[in-house]
Amino acid sequence: MERILILREKKEFMPELDRTVTTVKSKQYFVKDTSKGFHTTFGVIQPAELQKPDGSVIKSDQGKEFILFSPQFIDKYKRLRKLPQTIPLKDIGFIIAETGINKDSVVLDAGAGSGALAASLARIAKKVATYEIRPDFVANIKENFASLGLENIELKEKNVYEGFDEQTADLVTLDLPEPWKAVEHAAKAVKVGGFIINYSPSVPQVMDFVAAVRKNQHLLLVKTVEQIERLWEFEDRRVRPKSISIGHSGFLTVVRRIT
Ligand SMILES: C[S@@+](CC[C@H](N)C(=O)[O-])C[C@H]1O[C@@H](n2cnc3c(N)ncnc32)[C@H](O)[C@@H]1O
Repeated sequence: MERILILREKKEFMPELDRTVTTVKSKQYFVKDTSKGFHTTFGVIQPAELQKPDGSVIKSDQGKEFILFSPQFIDKYKRLRKLPQTIPLKDIGFIIAETGINKDSVVLDAGAGSGALAASLARIAKKVATYEIRPDFVANIKENFASLGLENIELKEKNVYEGFDEQTADLVTLDLPEPWKAVEHAAKAVKVGGFIINYSPSVPQVMDFVAAVRKNQHLLLVKTVEQIERLWEFEDRRVRPKSISIGHSGFLTVVRRIT
């Protein structure tokens, strides 16, 4: 059994500073094996405690309190081993919302990388086939899919610049060093009315991708967007955007096959 443990943040008013400060930072632990004691810097939690129902408040042998619950998909997703850089959650959300993929959708994805995007799409779609050229990434991708219990993903150890095997997909997602080389193939693999979404970190990649899309009569260039996520901090009346933010991730280009 797997469980999540949360140590709640603790704040105290410090008269000498005349303000409230955080004395214990919130911490989250992932317990993989509840059959043995779990060690934290705040003491050991006994197996019997780890079996308690979701929402229970349990104690370590140092008397520290933790809240216990069962991991959800996202808790497991955040533990995936990331070899190549994965696409951030904010951009995955955009892809899902913009294309409206659902339980009936067939999705093609390349390159698989760490399998993060393919796994997120497989949670929603009927089937995902993801292409990866690097044999040394394959074992990690398979392990990541297995850890999420996903069975509707097919990993293809193939060069996608030579084409997809499938036709009439609802969505093709591209996260590749040279995505323009996959435009013709993606156009053939997606159904009329379906979407191609390209994710690229740099402007020259987007330029060459857009140029290849514009050359293809079957495709309509819908838009290119950059999504900025700004984190905020809440500390008494200091409520404002955090001074350190994530910054740039990548550009998303939305394309539709129209003929
Ligand atoms: C940035 S990673 C993709 C990350 C992935 N979207 C994720 O969320 O985990 C790019 C991947 O594309 C793969 N790749 C590069 N060229 C390829 C090709 N021609 N065919 C298939 N995969 C390719 C690379 O080996 C790398 O694993």
